[in-house]
Amino acid sequence: MKAITGGWTAGPDGVPDGALRACLEDAVAAPSVHNTQPWRFRVYGGTVEILADRSRRLDVLDPQGRELFVSLGAAVFNLRASMLARGRVPVLRLLPEPAEPDLVARVTVGPPTRPPATAIMLADAIPRRHTNRQPFTEIPVPAEALADLTAAADAERARLVVTDAVARDAVLDVVRIAEQRRRHDPAYWRELSEWTRSGPERHDGVPPEAFGPWDALETVPIRDFSVVRPARRRKPAPFERAPTIAVLYTRDDTPAEWLRGGQALERVLLTATVRGLASTIMTQPVEVPHLRALLRDAADGYAAQAVLRFGYGPFSAASGRRGLDEVVVATAGNGEVTEGSKVPE
Ligand SMILES: Cc1cc2nc3c(=O)[nH]c(=O)nc-3n(C[C@H](O)[C@H](O)[C@H](O)COP(=O)(O)O)c2cc1C
Repeated sequence: MKAITGGWTAGPDGVPDGALRACLEDAVAAPSVHNTQPWRFRVYGGTVEILADRSRRLDVLDPQGRELFVSLGAAVFNLRASMLARGRVPVLRLLPEPAEPDLVARVTVGPPTRPPATAIMLADAIPRRHTNRQPFTEIPVPAEALADLTAAADAERARLVVTDAVARDAVLDVVRIAEQRRRHDPAYWRELSEWTRSGPERHDGVPPEAFGPWDALETVPIRDFSVVRPARRRKPAPFERAPTIAVLYTRDDTPAEWLRGGQALERVLLTATVRGLASTIMTQPVEVPHLRALLRDAADGYAAQAVLRFGYGPFSAASGRRGLDEVVVATAGNGEVTEGSKVPE
């Protein structure tokens, strides 16, 4: 984490400097579906408003905007962790204005506080977390690391279920079916093609160096980003035979819960990074309604938001991000400070 602690307000043009700017840089480092980065930030005084940029919604894969909201939730988590690690309490309101549904969160710089060790570790991990689509080693993930991951989801009022061998095979079967089904969908191809274009001017989308190799046996059915890029076809490589797989659930399936799920997702991924674990997000099955229904927790109806894979993997490349100049909406704002609940630490 960059050691910037002062500067908690935006200038009159809405462009932040100092610590608040560092917090926004952490927010945009969040994972997002196809690296769409579907966010905008409106900053005034010591308040950051996070807005959905629906022009970046994936119409084929995510017509409801559920994964768009999960991505926004991940950015909200980074903003909170970064603020807290820099010694200010983040005061969060999700969906604060019912009349403005694209305003997904308002985070106000609260009173000074002694940063909790967990917040410092999680914020430090933000630039080191990348989606890793490489083969992992066969070394099992220790039970205590898995317990940390499930506790991270609990802390955000979501649920992470680490599968046993039988459930793992069943979950991976569902991922595989979803992935295969999509491979024959021309609309999906077109959308994938739009978000896998690379070039020096492109700071979003999934770049070829992040595609990873192809598991010829398809034990680990990672999304095939190369399907529309024959020149970039993935080379086959052996993947781990017994992957560690977990499913992230939220209590409900509402926009507020998707935002909660996104915060939980990022807390889990950063906790994995702190633990030296690599991670992969696999959401193909939650994008097909009848396959998603198979993942639903039959006991209490919790809704599946993502399938996650953890393990020990090689270095994986970072994907680009758009600069703050592109995502901060300049506005003088009204400077209002809202009441809110203190974020659980
Ligand atoms: C809601 C959501 C869904 C995602 N689904 C997938 C997926 O199915 N397969 C995959 O390989 N990556 C998936 N990702 C990871 C993104 O592709 C990744 O976050 C993005 O490309 C930025 O790269 P980074 O995570 O390395 O920063 C998902 C991320 C989010 C937030």
